[in-house]
Amino acid sequence: MKQSLKEHAERFDEKAPEYDSSKNEEYKATVSLVVSHARPRNDDTVLDLGTGTGAIALALAEDAGEVVGRDISDGMLEEGREKAADRGVENVAFGDGRFREPNAPENTDIVTSNFAMHHLTDGQKREAINVIAGLEPRRIVLGDVMFFGEPNPDEPFYSPEVDDPATVGVLADAFTDAGYVLTAVERVHEQVGVLVAESLPSDDGDR
Ligand SMILES: C[S@@+](CC[C@H](N)C(=O)[O-])C[C@H]1O[C@@H](n2cnc3c(N)ncnc32)[C@H](O)[C@@H]1O
Repeated sequence: MKQSLKEHAERFDEKAPEYDSSKNEEYKATVSLVVSHARPRNDDTVLDLGTGTGAIALALAEDAGEVVGRDISDGMLEEGREKAADRGVENVAFGDGRFREPNAPENTDIVTSNFAMHHLTDGQKREAINVIAGLEPRRIVLGDVMFFGEPNPDEPFYSPEVDDPATVGVLADAFTDAGYVLTAVERVHEQVGVLVAESLPSDDGDR
């Protein structure tokens, strides 16, 4: 990581009040794809990691049984709680948790994460994907900065001083090594995408 967890948390604490007001088209498209691929059932528990102000968590709460949003920034989490209260959403819980220690609910059916994992090094992403897989969700949906080819150094879609995106290949290998199958790869931009990973087919009638 190019910054410590504490530094990342402080940076997002500062950004939190304005975070929702400056979103580009690629971000909006990625949120929409993560939400549509997550497809929770009404008895599912969803864990949203790096939940921020709850863009994904609050959208999925409409269909899921319960959504748990985890983040390292108290400021971002507080914005999420306020949005949930304003909207009267009661099946979302926001609290502290990080990729490699997610503070996950007991039964996690689906894990989502949007624009957050790119703060980790590739080795830490692999560890995080292993931790997530260990929760045995049937589906993992990752939206993030990720490189589909050679990134154009003059037009980075990220901040090189604090962010550390992976190639799609590195992420795909980590998911498959953790026992998941990639069932969708969505390219939003040459540096932004959504990956959907599912556990091997079971007889739960979901496919
Ligand atoms: C760009 S925001 C994305 C927030 C939200 N997922 C969205 O789509 O709007 C990145 C979030 O990841 C959080 N974050 C960074 N590193 C993290 C880590 N190691 N574990 C959990 N959250 C982390 C930050 O605090 C921040 O809220």
